[in-house]
Amino acid sequence: MIWFNDNVSLLHYFSIKVLKTGRVPEHIAFIMDGNRRYAKKKGVKSDVGHSKGFDKLTEILKWCSVLGVREVTVYAFSIENFKRTQEEVNTIMNIAYEKLKCFLEEINEVNNLGLRLVITGRLSLLPKDFNAIASSCMIATRRNKKLRLNIAVAYTGRDEISRAASHIVDRVKNKQLTPDDIDEDLITSSLELGEPDLLVRTSGEVRLSDFMLWQVSNTVLYFCDVLWPELTIWNLLAAIIHYQRHAPASKAVMPFSKTRQMFLDQLNNRRLQQRLNEVSLTQ
Ligand code: FPP
Ligand code: MG
Repeated sequence: MIWFNDNVSLLHYFSIKVLKTGRVPEHIAFIMDGNRRYAKKKGVKSDVGHSKGFDKLTEILKWCSVLGVREVTVYAFSIENFKRTQEEVNTIMNIAYEKLKCFLEEINEVNNLGLRLVITGRLSLLPKDFNAIASSCMIATRRNKKLRLNIAVAYTGRDEISRAASHIVDRVKNKQLTPDDIDEDLITSSLELGEPDLLVRTSGEVRLSDFMLWQVSNTVLYFCDVLWPELTIWNLLAAIIHYQRHAPASKAVMPFSKTRQMFLDQLNNRRLQQRLNEVSLTQ
């Protein structure tokens, strides 16, 4: 199976079991950085680096699943990345498209494993065929509950906040919400991505690069020097130990009023409808 790399040895299982006696983050976000430097180091073309980067993501998924993590979010392609050469942008989009095609081919195994895939970002910037296949993957796995994988493509945190703000303004104009309904909790719930407990960035960069800006206010941050394709299970376990040493006490979640809950249900339905339209447009 391409999407769920099964490379967990007995030693890995044992080490994970020991770490699981402590608190494990429910949601981990990764800024997958260093693919091109990895390619340069190995004397190969950058598309090999990106391909190895995808393979690493599948390993991470397996490790996270054994750890009992419920949600993984990865920064695959930022809006800024469109400034790279057209050739590189096409290469990355092609890799992503081909991997999503494999995902659909492996859908029975994916569903048995309970993996839900969500692709988020400014869809209008992405090629039509990519959006269509992404929507098919999302629709096919939307009821899976064991592990959720969010892939941020054509994404920046500021853009995500702007899109949420625009949905809220629409609803205020339609009188479905009042200005008094707008507060931090409403904005938090209007974003597609939830708050990660731990954020890991590889390759020695110590910036957030506009990733999940709203969501990381209480997140434990972990920066390591290793290039993304070279990340090992031991690097991941070191990040979990870092989390266990620095995790804040968990906070209580307040229930929503009826109007706000209605707004959020409508927002989710609208997103789903948008995905369904993309799939039907290509059929
Ligand atoms: C960061 O390394 C990596 C990217 C910008 C692209 C990553 C995308 C993929 C591996 C495709 C994933 C596909 C799916 C379906 C998830 P970099 O290019 O910034 O490398 P550098 O920091 O060494 O320059
Ligand atoms: Mg980079």
